[in-house]
Amino acid sequence: MSLADERLPMTERVPLQTSSSRLSAVWLGARSAHEGDQDVARAVRNVFPRQPAAARINREHHLLITDVFAQRGITQILDLGCGYPANGQHGAAGPLLSQNTHEVVQRRWHAASVTYVDNDPDVVNARRTEVAATAGQTRARTLLADITDTVDLLDQLTRDAAVTRDRPVAVLAHDVFPWISDDDAVRRCVDSLREWLPPGSALSVTHATADMTPTWIQRLTGVYAEAGLSFHPRGRGFTTDLFGDWEDLYGGPVRVIPTARHQPGHHESKAPDFHSAGYAGVAIKPSA
Ligand SMILES: C[S@@+](CC[C@H](N)C(=O)[O-])C[C@H]1O[C@@H](n2cnc3c(N)ncnc32)[C@H](O)[C@@H]1O
Repeated sequence: MSLADERLPMTERVPLQTSSSRLSAVWLGARSAHEGDQDVARAVRNVFPRQPAAARINREHHLLITDVFAQRGITQILDLGCGYPANGQHGAAGPLLSQNTHEVVQRRWHAASVTYVDNDPDVVNARRTEVAATAGQTRARTLLADITDTVDLLDQLTRDAAVTRDRPVAVLAHDVFPWISDDDAVRRCVDSLREWLPPGSALSVTHATADMTPTWIQRLTGVYAEAGLSFHPRGRGFTTDLFGDWEDLYGGPVRVIPTARHQPGHHESKAPDFHSAGYAGVAIKPSA
């Protein structure tokens, strides 16, 4: 199937000192050409040396859980705050992490549909370029949207049937909410998606937390603030509440646990909890 991305206009580039998306690519091994990124990355490593490892734990979980959804027959994926492509201009991760969401799904479902969403125009440009080059038969597209503007988000999702409600959708919200300062905006975003999604849909969230290492994460938050980045680690209760009355992927109440421990196949599943510096939870929308 041909890709809608190829026909979409490139968006205007906005110069930034650094950004959560570019730093995220740096943690995964990219060599950023932006001096600002390297400066901030150095300052972050000084106060929280485990940050690159925590980002890799999060990314491996992203790939593992995407494959779990594909194995369960979910063929529509919505990747919120998708960040740069893994092997594009800003990404050069090791072999394990150098896969994109659509490549993972495509291994099981050639005609699956993946919708990437980000509010960083440079990420969207990079994704559209990457998708045009590699998506093969998978229907992959990239939307420029602020996920806290839920009216616009749902409008863009329904336009051209990018995502349809006739079958379950898996929503990946991995390490995106910590970059949104307004707790209520995060809750509203998730509430409207939970309501809009059809039964059988899945919601996967990872969220940075200070619960395991409060002092380090407080310093980390300070470094980000100096770099102009608004970073909001949150407690387990906040992330748990995002799932509302949905059930855990494996049944029962939703388990929100350190990210590396969520999937037994994770390379770091036996690592101490503070290595994750974040929580993961995955839930399924019950039938009415
Ligand atoms: C740290 S990166 C996470 C990338 C990827 N999800 C992962 O887990 O590896 C956070 C991404 O969320 C995006 N983002 C932050 N706030 C957003 C918002 N309000 N709407 C859409 N995307 C947002 C950033 O541009 C960035 O690409």
